[in-house]
Amino acid sequence: MLFDATQVRRVMLSGFPLGGCDDVVAQLRQGGVRVVSLLADADAVVVPDDANGRGRAAVGDVGLPVVALREVLARAGGATACREPVGDAAGGVRICDVVLPRAEARDTALVPDAAQFRGVCFDRAFLLLARTVARCLRDALPCLIEGPTATAKTTTVQWVAAVTGHPVARLNLSGQSETGELVGRFVPDDRPDAAATWRFQPGVVPRAMERGWLVLLDEVNLAEPQVIERLNSALERPPTLVLSEHDHRVYGSGGQPVAAGFRLVATMNPAEYSGRSVLSPSFRDRWVVTCRAEAPDEQSVRQLVHFLLTGEQPHVVLPFGAFQAAPVAPLHPGLAPALELAAPLARLHCTLSDARLGRRRRERPTFTRRGLLAALEQAACEAAHGRDPRLALVEAVHATYVERLADQADRDAVRATMRAVQFD
Ligand SMILES: Nc1ncnc2c1ncn2[C@@H]1O[C@H](COP(=O)(O)OP(=O)(O)OP(=O)(O)O)[C@@H](O)[C@H]1O
Ligand SMILES: [Mg+2]
Repeated sequence: MLFDATQVRRVMLSGFPLGGCDDVVAQLRQGGVRVVSLLADADAVVVPDDANGRGRAAVGDVGLPVVALREVLARAGGATACREPVGDAAGGVRICDVVLPRAEARDTALVPDAAQFRGVCFDRAFLLLARTVARCLRDALPCLIEGPTATAKTTTVQWVAAVTGHPVARLNLSGQSETGELVGRFVPDDRPDAAATWRFQPGVVPRAMERGWLVLLDEVNLAEPQVIERLNSALERPPTLVLSEHDHRVYGSGGQPVAAGFRLVATMNPAEYSGRSVLSPSFRDRWVVTCRAEAPDEQSVRQLVHFLLTGEQPHVVLPFGAFQAAPVAPLHPGLAPALELAAPLARLHCTLSDARLGRRRRERPTFTRRGLLAALEQAACEAAHGRDPRLALVEAVHATYVERLADQADRDAVRATMRAVQFD
């Protein structure tokens, strides 16, 4: 059917996950398009960008054009003109709508390698978090990111550092972390010409203050509260630090200057995760920006799978503009023949992530993006070795989602979910 997207003002939705509809309705509204519930009122039926033949056929012959969301958004009203999520801008680098200066070209060995992010899907949650991190780096605001495992906390910070050229000192904190790691400690001086037996070795934070690094305190609440509270003054604006462990040297506040690029970002899982400490109000309060990283919803999971198999990035409409990165060479092209499994796989993944399996176990099974990526990688390897891509994907998902469950009842429940979402 002939279709002129500029004429589309009222649409019906088909094939969107229930949880993702509010987002789609909001995106369309921004583009001046209303979602209606009666076919008789609609100019077109809108399906997800990655809807395959089956998804489109499911709409049936309703006498209306069936169009992808991207197509309607791209042309409707022009309000959603689409940009690359990252690009050069006067004054530095643009991440969504935030322009921040490029870091000084020094300590480049500490700048994360952009190549490691070629599998990153620029979905809604990723771009929102990246924009917040970018804003914090631009305005020198300490930023604390809290969220469940595998919600891209670490990846996002490192990606922002990679595109802005910011050196990163990443500390993986744990119950064994000591203040010495952060601010400095005395170590045996084994230099041949050493005058004393011990020398002071500055920690990551004073070095970062001197060199203008971003300090990434990963898993900050795994460390003992009194260890991380040593950083309270470094979290203030402007940051300061007194090396009371050594010569009482002062960084900032009239002492040794703090380099312009010095930044602090922390990530953590919720306090309910085992082994995490509860942050004291005074420490938490110093993180001027505290944001949440969310597990990907069904739409994002589908976009991720679609991206990994085709190289096409999703079209994302945010309150500050619409974004879509140019397509790239896909990470798993060998699985492209299994593309029609993307939607059922996303539904399966999200249904299981919400399910409460392993009730009788102390350690409950979790279904995360990490597991999903591992399953796709295993399937891609099998396909590269000649296995049928569809079968390889079904088997890898089965191994990741079913076989590691200890309880027969849980395994049966997952198998039943697989049949229900037609992932077979
Ligand atoms: N948007 C994305 N597209 C593709 N892969 C992603 C995306 N976000 C995260 N990943 C991948 O998901 C995995 C988990 O990401 P990451 O380690 O950043 O999560 P995290 O929130 O820091 O988890 P944890 O709390 O366990 O440290 C990594 O393999 C990462 O490469
Ligand atoms: Mg992490």
